[in-house]
Amino acid sequence: MTPPKDIPYRVDMARSVSNSLSLSTSPTSHFHSPPSSFKDRPQYNKQLKPFQRESIKVLLLENVNQTGRDILEQQGYQVEFLKSSLPEDQLIQKIRDVHVIGIRSKTKLTENVLKHARNLIVIGCFCIGTNQVDLQYAARNGIAVFNSPFSNSRSVAELVIAEVIALARQLGDRSMELHNGVWNKVSNGCWEIRGKTLGIVGYGHIGSQLSVLAESMGMSVIYYDVVNLMSMGTARQVSSLEELLGAADFVSLHVPELPETKNLFTSKQFEQMKNGSYLINNSRGSVVEIAALVDAMRTGKVAGAALDVYPNEPGGNGPYFSNELNSWTADLTKLKNVILTPHIGGSTEEAQSAIGIEVANALVRFVNEGATLGAVNMPEVNLRSLTLDEPNHVRVIFIHKNVPGVLRRVNSILGNHNVDKQMTDSRGEVAYLMADISDVDQGEIKDLYQSLEEDSSRIRVRVLY
Ligand SMILES: NC(=O)c1ccc[n+]([C@@H]2O[C@H](COP(=O)([O-])OP(=O)(O)OC[C@H]3O[C@@H](n4cnc5c(N)ncnc54)[C@H](O)[C@@H]3O)[C@@H](O)[C@H]2O)c1
Repeated sequence: MTPPKDIPYRVDMARSVSNSLSLSTSPTSHFHSPPSSFKDRPQYNKQLKPFQRESIKVLLLENVNQTGRDILEQQGYQVEFLKSSLPEDQLIQKIRDVHVIGIRSKTKLTENVLKHARNLIVIGCFCIGTNQVDLQYAARNGIAVFNSPFSNSRSVAELVIAEVIALARQLGDRSMELHNGVWNKVSNGCWEIRGKTLGIVGYGHIGSQLSVLAESMGMSVIYYDVVNLMSMGTARQVSSLEELLGAADFVSLHVPELPETKNLFTSKQFEQMKNGSYLINNSRGSVVEIAALVDAMRTGKVAGAALDVYPNEPGGNGPYFSNELNSWTADLTKLKNVILTPHIGGSTEEAQSAIGIEVANALVRFVNEGATLGAVNMPEVNLRSLTLDEPNHVRVIFIHKNVPGVLRRVNSILGNHNVDKQMTDSRGEVAYLMADISDVDQGEIKDLYQSLEEDSSRIRVRVLY
């Protein structure tokens, strides 16, 4: 542990950002950021409506947060709200008629369920994960899926701050001892965090929030990321993980689960850490080899650890954290100064509320305007909104198989009108085309729709006007 010292002001720390719009890696580029052509957005957007809002049927399961329900109800959609998930047979009955379904993690939207969803155009997962949905099947049938991966970033960052202090003061052990009737007043090996160095691995949504909080508490922050990212405050990006490990008193991991991040921390990385430093992992269980952490703690190399995520995690609450789940559990739980939490980093009321707002807004944008920004199974396509000054404009959405020749055929159908703007993108087998065309008489809309419906590549056609 380095003794506390004042953090010098460093003028060399501003870094430039190299980031592309398609990456969700920069904390300063929210994944819903519109492209630059949105800057001149007029004040009075035209409400697109090939349908009466009241004819849009929404089914919300699993007690979706009130914030999300309010947004959907304010649109005038017919919203049915249920507190629980449904058994498969009841789900199949209900899903037949709805255009939109909102779920959390318990509802399984398998191919068997989705094939009954005749009218469904979009699924909202009011949570982080989407593996409860057959994403491929949904995409092949023109059903977009949205989730909310970043609404709980702040909650995770705050938990890390709590853990930094708790580890530095051995709070977990003192509390456990007193619960067992043992008074153990010690100061040996207990530290203030002021002036200590926090090393953040992965400087994305969570890492950058943490950076701000840690600095405000007098810590010096360094970070390592595979992308060159702009620092928050006076934090400093270092050029290698090894450099970070050699300088940090606390190391906090915030990388995504990728093949490259699997076992990012093994005995080699623990060796590179400072003697008596601390490790915090609130990212993914696969990132740290726990057996190596146990060894590093037994030798005193690592003075404490906080873990919120594990290679294998139980499917529900109960007494499941055992060697049967992960072979090293008994070794880990015997160690001093180890804080273990059951994947609660993002579990706060605020995060649930933010998830409700984010997912409901994505659903509304998709239903009303066809925008797929943030979709997890479709290409991300958007155009700036039509305005009230554009009365004879129509927005055409053509979700189609990603095969040669489609654009030529579609543009020959649209070609009788002026194509003001158009965007198309593909993801695997599915492509998504959005075009705003002008000079369209109301009477021509049906023919336009019919011609597109007849194209052999068609998955789904929507005409919004
Ligand atoms: N404990 C929880 O409850 C909880 C809640 C939310 C998120 N998470 C997890 O936290 C992690 C971070 O989430 P986020 O929202 O900040 O993600 P993010 O995508 O915003 O940021 C991840 C950052 O890691 C960087 N990165 C990728 N590979 C790297 C590598 N090999 N070395 C160094 N940097 C690398 C990326 O460039 C990016 O800047 C994810 O694994 C996520 O699943 C956990």
